[in-house]
This record gives sequence, structure tokens and C-alpha cells, in this order.
Amino acid sequence: MERLVSFETRRESCKLESRSPAETLELGALIGGIIPEGCVMSLEGGLGAGKTLLAKGICLGLGVKDEVVSPSFILVEEYRGVMPVMHFDLYRLERVEEVYDLGLFEIDDGHRVIIVEWGDRLPEGMLRPDIRVVLRVTGGESREILIEAPAELIRAVKKEEC
Ligand SMILES: Nc1ncnc2c1ncn2[C@@H]1O[C@H](COP(=O)(O)OP(=O)(O)O)[C@@H](O)[C@H]1O
Ligand SMILES: [Mg+2]
Repeated sequence: MERLVSFETRRESCKLESRSPAETLELGALIGGIIPEGCVMSLEGGLGAGKTLLAKGICLGLGVKDEVVSPSFILVEEYRGVMPVMHFDLYRLERVEEVYDLGLFEIDDGHRVIIVEWGDRLPEGMLRPDIRVVLRVTGGESREILIEAPAELIRAVKKEEC
């Protein structure tokens, strides 16, 4: 599939099951391969749900060659792929004001792709992600993955899954 130039405004959601880390990585790569520049993503779900693994896949799809690690201790990491990527992890966020210090909203310049783990730690309506992914552990290697996104992204995901 070709990379999208922009997103349509109609939103849809779908629920998938990942049966292995490889499947989650593959889903990420699919998403990373089609998202337009400036795309903002919130990855949600408990510790070990697979947010960082999905972020790695997204970066793979964005052509990032740098190593993608969980930026937990530093809150933000920048990579360079076919477009710049900012990877936030808000797990250790103590005050909402910290995201202003991190420059999260200045970085949202319509060009850089923004991936935010624990985006749900911010007050409702603050991040307004284009794509929201909620991962849930359902077994040793299985994860329920809920995606809320513009309709054409959901279509692309469903096409690959079927
Ligand atoms: N289907 C799956 N999808 C994602 N991760 C999985 C899956 N099955 C097992 N895992 C494991 O769960 C862990 C997820 O870790 P990570 O991506 O760092 O989670 P988070 O960032 O949500 O805390 C990894 O050790 C990974 O190998
Ligand atoms: Mg993580």
C-alpha cells in the first residue's frame, strides 16, 4: 500500500487479536508504512501490553534505522526515518505541565510523526491523536488490539488481516 497524503475525517474502529510479538510488530509496520506526515498516535494499555513493540513496528514502517527502545527514563526519543519521528513515553509523567516542557505540542508541527505511549495519562482532549491504539493482555502471547483511526487506515488494516 502507498503512504497516505492525508487522512479523511470519518473515524472508525476495529478490534484485532495479535497472537505473537511478531504479529504486533507486523501490524505496527503496516501502520507506519501508510500514515501521512504529522500523524499523532496514542498507544495505550498496561505495562507489558506491547506499546513499545508496536512503536518499533511503526518505526520500521517509517524506515527508521535507529534502535527503538522504550524511552521510559527520558520521556522522549527522536528518530529519523522517511520523516522525523518523536517517541514519547508518559509513564513517568508526574505533572501535566511536564509535557509542555517536553515540547510535545510545539513538536506537533504537521510534519513530524508523534508516537505517545501512555497518551491516556494526559487529560481528555489534550492530545487529540489521529490514531488511538489500546492493547490488552489476553494471554502469554496474545493481545487484544483496539484501533480507533481515520476510516482509510482501518480499511487498510482490515484488508491485511483478512
Ligand atoms: N502478541 C504480543 N504483542 C506484543 N507483545 C507481546 C505479545 N506477546 C508477548 N509479548 C511480549 O510482551 C512484552 C511487551 O513489551 P512492551 O512492548 O515493552 O510493552 P509496553 O510498552 O506496553 O510496556 C514484550 O516482552 C513482548 O515480547
Ligand atoms: Mg513501553
